[in-house]
Amino acid sequence: MVNKKALITGASSGIGLEFVRALSKEYDITLVSNEKDKLNKIVNELVGNHKFIYADLTDFKDIKRICDEISNKNYNLVINNAGMGIYGDFAETPIDKLNEVITINCNAIMMISHSFLKKAKPGDSLIIVSSAIVFLPSSNGPIYVSTKAFNSLLGQCLWHKQRKRGVYVMTLHPGVTNTGFFNKSGVNKLPPKSIMQSSEEVVKIAVRELNKRKKPIVVTGIKNKFFIFLTRFLPRKTIINFMERF
Ligand SMILES: NC(=O)c1ccc[n+]([C@@H]2O[C@H](COP(=O)([O-])OP(=O)(O)OC[C@H]3O[C@@H](n4cnc5c(N)ncnc54)[C@H](OP(=O)(O)O)[C@@H]3O)[C@@H](O)[C@H]2O)c1
Repeated sequence: MVNKKALITGASSGIGLEFVRALSKEYDITLVSNEKDKLNKIVNELVGNHKFIYADLTDFKDIKRICDEISNKNYNLVINNAGMGIYGDFAETPIDKLNEVITINCNAIMMISHSFLKKAKPGDSLIIVSSAIVFLPSSNGPIYVSTKAFNSLLGQCLWHKQRKRGVYVMTLHPGVTNTGFFNKSGVNKLPPKSIMQSSEEVVKIAVRELNKRKKPIVVTGIKNKFFIFLTRFLPRKTIINFMERF
């Protein structure tokens, strides 16, 4: 039997790597990230017909290379997972750093989704990884939160149109997840373990919903859903103040 084909960005660690593990029997996967050695090791350990492409998704030339790969091959699933966090005072953060985050978190996702949806067929799927933080904005990460809001709204709008042609678009909103993300994002205090999910848990929920092909928004875990539910009854001011202290 010929496997379906998937391309996963940010596949060298965390949630992306977990997607690779969960889907590697069903799909021939192209793993994308800026960590050549890690990718090589992962592909060598996997069973099946998988490959990797090195790409720095803060670089438009590399983003274009990934778009060309998608345009030239028939992928059935694309997972836009690669992302960078950035925390700290907005005005004090170098503008080039903020632009890098916007390039990988917004431009890359928009361009890759565009290349995929141009030739997607009924039955194909696109996942955009946003974050539960869009419902609980943290003033300590204004650019990160804003990029994730872009992901969330882009995914929801695409879901509606693509559904009519049989293509499923999921926007995934994980809560705090135990990956290397926070260490790389410049946070000086890690979130409490009690609210952390594992990347296995996040991906298990995402894959279950991918198989159902129904929901535009997938929020992972009951605690995250509960907090988001509460935000319906609270003034925005209260939520932002709470997140600042948190
Ligand atoms: N962790 C959380 O609490 C959380 C919560 C909600 C949403 N998310 C979202 O989930 C997604 C995955 O994050 P994660 O938690 O799994 O973090 P992670 O472990 O840091 O994974 C991020 C992935 O993106 C890759 N990447 C980083 N910079 C890149 C670049 N310039 N070019 C290409 N690839 C690059 C990383 O490669 P390396 O191997 O070099 O690191 C890694 O494979 C992100 O979009 C994040 O915003 C995370």
